[in-house]
Amino acid sequence: MKILNLEDYIHLFGERDTHRSLSSFCCHEDDDVQAYIRERAFDDELAHRARTKLFIDERHQKIAGFFTILFKNNIRFSKSINEEIIDQITGDRESHYFRAILLAQLAKNDFYEKCPKEIFCGNDIIDAAKISAKNIFDSCGLNHFCLEYKSRKEWLRKFYMRHGFSDVQTKENGLTLSYLRITNE
Ligand SMILES: CC(C)(COP(=O)(O)OP(=O)(O)OC[C@H]1O[C@@H](n2cnc3c(N)ncnc32)[C@H](O)[C@@H]1OP(=O)(O)O)[C@@H](O)C(=O)NCCC(=O)NCCS
Repeated sequence: MKILNLEDYIHLFGERDTHRSLSSFCCHEDDDVQAYIRERAFDDELAHRARTKLFIDERHQKIAGFFTILFKNNIRFSKSINEEIIDQITGDRESHYFRAILLAQLAKNDFYEKCPKEIFCGNDIIDAAKISAKNIFDSCGLNHFCLEYKSRKEWLRKFYMRHGFSDVQTKENGLTLSYLRITNE
């Protein structure tokens, strides 16, 4: 699989073909993720609100997977959170907010559902996202890498834990915030 920035993909293939490729990405498991890559990733990339990286399967001429990261400067701790956790993340137990690199989206195309793991799987996506986060850390020192997932999906919690994330808090909207310190990697 080749990994390409969405911006480079647009330059290579043009806007119309990029829209066509993005809008054929299927992810039945999560409608929000599917809607993001189909409808919003393109505009976010060109407006520099976020950065999306695409996994390109040149053999089948498909986008096999993607992830999107962005900078978030005001992730709010919930009132019920243990001060120890706040201290571990920010070094200041009085903090109400912290700033982080957010892994805002991540998905594998349904076309690769039955694909052998050695060829392509979610591990490849998250590993590449961690490399991107490390590059940001190296250039500006931002050490916090976060994501949110739907709390009811226990398998996602296990998946992210396997990759070094740990849960920080669960919000009333049913989303769990999970955290990884980049320098611990
Ligand atoms: C998240 C995602 C990229 C993981 O990729 P993947 O290739 O399935 O990753 P893995 O094969 O390593 O699967 C991780 C584990 O979750 C399980 N799993 C995957 N999809 C599942 C589902 N829909 N329901 C229950 N378990 C599931 C796998 O069986 C695997 O379990 P195992 O480790 O015991 O074998 C992929 O499942 C995906 O695109 N999901 C839809 C989009 C999404 O949920 N994005 C995350 C938003 S926070």
